[in-house]
Amino acid sequence: MTTTGTGTGGRHFLQIPGPTNVPDRVLRAMDMPTIDHRGPEFAALGREVLEAVKAPFGTSNPVVVYPASGTGAWEAALCNTLSPGDRVLCFETGHFATLWQDMARRLGLEVEFVPGDWRHGVPPEAVQERLAADPGHEVKAVMVVHNETSTGVTSRVGEIRAAIDAAQHPALYLVDTISSLGSIDYRHDEWRVDVTIAGSQKGLMLPPGISFNAVSDKALEASRTARLPRSYWDWEPILAANANGFWPYTPATNILYGLREALRMLAEEGLPDVYARHQRHAEATRAAVRGWGLEVLALDEREYSGSLTAILLSDEHDADEVRRVILEHYDMSLGAGLGRLARKVFRIGHLGHFNDLMLAGTLAGVQMGLVRSGVKVDPAGIQAALEVLGQ
Ligand SMILES: Cc1ncc(COP(=O)(O)O)c(C=O)c1O
Repeated sequence: MTTTGTGTGGRHFLQIPGPTNVPDRVLRAMDMPTIDHRGPEFAALGREVLEAVKAPFGTSNPVVVYPASGTGAWEAALCNTLSPGDRVLCFETGHFATLWQDMARRLGLEVEFVPGDWRHGVPPEAVQERLAADPGHEVKAVMVVHNETSTGVTSRVGEIRAAIDAAQHPALYLVDTISSLGSIDYRHDEWRVDVTIAGSQKGLMLPPGISFNAVSDKALEASRTARLPRSYWDWEPILAANANGFWPYTPATNILYGLREALRMLAEEGLPDVYARHQRHAEATRAAVRGWGLEVLALDEREYSGSLTAILLSDEHDADEVRRVILEHYDMSLGAGLGRLARKVFRIGHLGHFNDLMLAGTLAGVQMGLVRSGVKVDPAGIQAALEVLGQ
């Protein structure tokens, strides 16, 4: 069955960095009659998923679940914790960091946006330096995108926490894990993150439609005095209803069935093994890219993403044209270059419900598409990847 209408037979390869492939187990789990979201059967489901969802965040604190895409959870994190005119510190790591700071501005926050080259993550030393220069504690929050989906660069959230501590600064720490949760090691409690933002459609292997705020005690405390207007996003009535397994409004019932199943799958594999699998696939992908003679966009090996790889083409090639050829001939969707990287890079998503042979097929399709598009590549690329997978 193809889903894109190219008529080539076989399954479509959805290798964008989210939404990701939804496992059959999750699809079957969602194939249920929608039930009364104020009835006892729903309460049992609600209580179970609200407890189980804490594991991938690495938290024992509450996780708020919204029927919204990740952008909604971004807004929720800001409007529950901050007040008009509050200063926030952000870093230009790529397209999503740029969009999030733009939202902060539009909500009435004072944004300090540190420029970046879209090839590096947030530098912990710059966080420390900036906060150390703020003895009056004007900065109320540091906003970090853990895994920049536009660049394939992962910021070092634990080291940034250490930098905030070294500056002895009380700023809230807000982290977007939309393309890392359930794929890349993450520890909300250990790293004392105050709000962790996530979405359903990537490492959690679900369709788009729900998103999350994991909240620290400090964030809950801040929400009591925060004055940005909020209604739908307000944690308080949601947490009150959640105590009995309910929501104050209609939850995304069938996606919650899917969430229950996806969390079971992650627990069965074991989160450390899930993270190791993603790292192996990322390493194999980079081996292919280098073997082809092409360039990985991420420049610092400490920041290579486990969930996606962005590949930079030379000026004479249009990455969107390569993607078009691959979709037309091999029925595979790859991620486009976003913002200032448009047409310069394409992105391979290797996250979520994914295994060695799916990666081998993906890389074979990319290699064939590059050749067909006239990009000079060394066919040894695929062999280099297979060697990593064979280890
Ligand atoms: C890192 C990151 N943040 C935020 C978003 C926005 O999430 P959504 O499109 O679910 O609203 C995305 C979407 O891809 C993302 O990758």
